[in-house]
Amino acid sequence: MTTQPAWQSLQSQRESLPHLRDLFAADPARAEKFQREAAGLFFDFSKNLLTAETLANLLDLAEAAGLRSKIDAMFRGDKINITENRAVLHTALRAPRTASIKVDGVDVVPEVHAVLDRMADFSNRVRSGEWKGHTGKIIRNIVNIGIGGSDLGPVMAYEALRHYSDRTRIFRFVSNVDGTDFAEATRDLDPSETLFIVSSKTFTTLETMTNASTAREWLLAGLGGDSSAVAKHFVAVSTNAEKVSAFGIDTANMFGFWDWVGGRYSMDSAIGLSTMLAIGPDHFRDLLAGFHEMDEHFRTAPFESNLPVIHGLLAVWYNDFFGAQTVAVLPYDQYLKRFPAYLQQLTMESNGKSTTLAGTPVDTDTGPIYWGEPGTNGQHSFYQLIHQGTRLIPCDFIAFAHSLNPLGRHQDLLMSNVFAQTEALAFGKTLAQVEAEGTPAALAPHRVFEGNRPSNVLLADKLTPATLGRLVSFYEMSVFTQGVLWNINSFDQWGVELGKVLAQRIIPELESAGEPDLKHDSSTNSLIRRYRKMK
Ligand code: F6P
Repeated sequence: MTTQPAWQSLQSQRESLPHLRDLFAADPARAEKFQREAAGLFFDFSKNLLTAETLANLLDLAEAAGLRSKIDAMFRGDKINITENRAVLHTALRAPRTASIKVDGVDVVPEVHAVLDRMADFSNRVRSGEWKGHTGKIIRNIVNIGIGGSDLGPVMAYEALRHYSDRTRIFRFVSNVDGTDFAEATRDLDPSETLFIVSSKTFTTLETMTNASTAREWLLAGLGGDSSAVAKHFVAVSTNAEKVSAFGIDTANMFGFWDWVGGRYSMDSAIGLSTMLAIGPDHFRDLLAGFHEMDEHFRTAPFESNLPVIHGLLAVWYNDFFGAQTVAVLPYDQYLKRFPAYLQQLTMESNGKSTTLAGTPVDTDTGPIYWGEPGTNGQHSFYQLIHQGTRLIPCDFIAFAHSLNPLGRHQDLLMSNVFAQTEALAFGKTLAQVEAEGTPAALAPHRVFEGNRPSNVLLADKLTPATLGRLVSFYEMSVFTQGVLWNINSFDQWGVELGKVLAQRIIPELESAGEPDLKHDSSTNSLIRRYRKMK
């Protein structure tokens, strides 16, 4: 990629780009040139450090990287996850019933809809009170046990769509192997009214299996020890039927998915069972329809009007040409408070790679660090650094025209902050402006805002299940675009394995009655010895 003429041209542009103040002053039509709209999302990227030539060059890079054919390969079900020999078909999870997508010659769409129908039937039975607990009480509490993709999507979606959720029920999420997570999530719950959803693609994950066992003990202790109670209080979501039954959950109470769904791409599979229980099957289908709408836009729109493609290319632009190490995601909607955490796994587990698909070291930086908090809270915390610090931090502002809780002036005040922040970041405040305000000379340099700090604004009508689906698909496809440009596999996660293996070795060393024969480095050995003494 770095030898492409477009890459060279971008490198020289980066040196000579005018300040955003000058770019806007020189072209009164700049905003319209760098705004696009599709699938209910309005995308303003005009406050980015770019010219028409920059965009053209970035689009050239996408062509040179074969993005079009790679998109087709993904949607077709080719095994593009080459290190695990798997198709990558989260898009099939939201394909309409009439679609046909084949993996190894088998159409997966009927299976997807069969699971969705079973989930809907189960959700309706729980929500209506027809599904009863072991003692005949209706289920009032739903606890999802999972971690990573089996937790972050469900938590984020539950929080994001709380407005649409069944407020008569309590939803909790347990992920951490720290016992505090389970204890706090269940301390005020009545076992006879509690349903656990054990969510794990592999059904082998240490944290989830440990929490699931603790949940079973907690339930049985609360219900008099009758193990037949498990059938009414535990369901599983997994690709691994064997392990589910070995754990003691009847596979009749299991909702499956497939190896072609990556954990971080699974919130719209059966992993979304807690979401469906919260918002109901109809809203869940709206969520899937929103995903599909953005998928189709990404699959079919020309690159120059393709929202996720442009967004992904801009991420590459800052990452590789400006050395920007992070991206801030700033949702101006309290319901999206877990969205940055969700995006961290999606982006960083996908593109935190340093080996190309060919097995060679990458020759550019890859996945940036994603982080963020909802606005306006972040403004009173870390925005100082974004405005006046020494680092370039591209920002994504996400906002909605309508609040789900319209209260007096709140929404206008909220939105005024979105617009003000992007304006301040782009245009800043010069020394001359500061001095003209009569600021004392000694203070003036402290009050200068350099400006020229890039941001995107994503604006939608309001946060609905469909909008959330569109937004998540938008980021999934942006991540895909970035991965294609870097020629990496965005769908494996070997980097999480080593720590897991080492922990397995250390567990018996912490638990053994006798002093273990430690063979680690001196630091790890002494930490283990110190912990054994302290515990
Ligand atoms: O450790 C990382 C990971 O494998 C993620 O990719 C995944 O989402 C998470 O663990 C949970 O895995 P599982 O759903 O198999 O329990």
